[in-house]
Amino acid sequence: MRVVLIGPPGSGKGTQAVRLAKHYGAVHIAAGDLLRAELAAGTELGLRVQQYLSSGDLVPDDLVVALLWGRIVEAARDGGYVLDGFPRTAGQAEAAYRMALEAGVTAHAAVYLDGDSDALVARMLARAHVDGRVDDTAEVIAHRLAVFAEQTAPLVDYYERRGLLIRIDAMLPADEVTKAIIKALDATERPDATRE
Ligand code: AP5
Repeated sequence: MRVVLIGPPGSGKGTQAVRLAKHYGAVHIAAGDLLRAELAAGTELGLRVQQYLSSGDLVPDDLVVALLWGRIVEAARDGGYVLDGFPRTAGQAEAAYRMALEAGVTAHAAVYLDGDSDALVARMLARAHVDGRVDDTAEVIAHRLAVFAEQTAPLVDYYERRGLLIRIDAMLPADEVTKAIIKALDATERPDATRE
């Protein structure tokens, strides 16, 4: 299974990606986690992305694509991938599509986790007490939601035009969200390669 998860901050991409990867024997690739790991390890990339992560702005496309692409191709050869937080801009989606087409690893489906902003803010503020993520403050959360609306939401139409979009109500309890996604994915055709 090769699937892309799109959704606003707090919509449950990470939560669902872990479950889907386990269910389908695929690899969970989380853009935000990988970027935070670079930062924690103090790598050159980590230093370059620090400001973006703490402000809630998107890291430049070329850095993200370079960080993820090898992992995506490897995962596709190793049972598939569940992409959590990538692509996130039209530029990333187009670059990924070009490269995926060439490598024969285009996605079978794009799952859009659709949620109400106020509820998502509450989820992230609740998580802040546990995880202490620097971007889980009220101000940065508001900015992340605005960045999603401006730069990532247009991908919903992009995947719809390609006939790959699955819309899921992210406000349901997590177990119901998982069931709904799996039901929809199981009903999806999985031709070998030619669509993103
Ligand atoms: P990233 O780490 O991807 O963060 P995000 O998109 O803001 O999403 P979150 O991790 O906050 O939420 P989620 O949708 O994964 O939900 P979760 O399962 O955690 O990105 C962080 C930053 O990295 C970006 O701002 C950017 O700077 C950079 N970045 C990442 N990707 C990039 C890219 N491609 N290009 C450029 N920059 C990039 O759930 C949230 C909470 O809700 C949890 O506490 C969870 O337990 C709870 N929850 C989940 N589902 C439910 C449910 N159904 N009901 C109730 N609670 C639920």
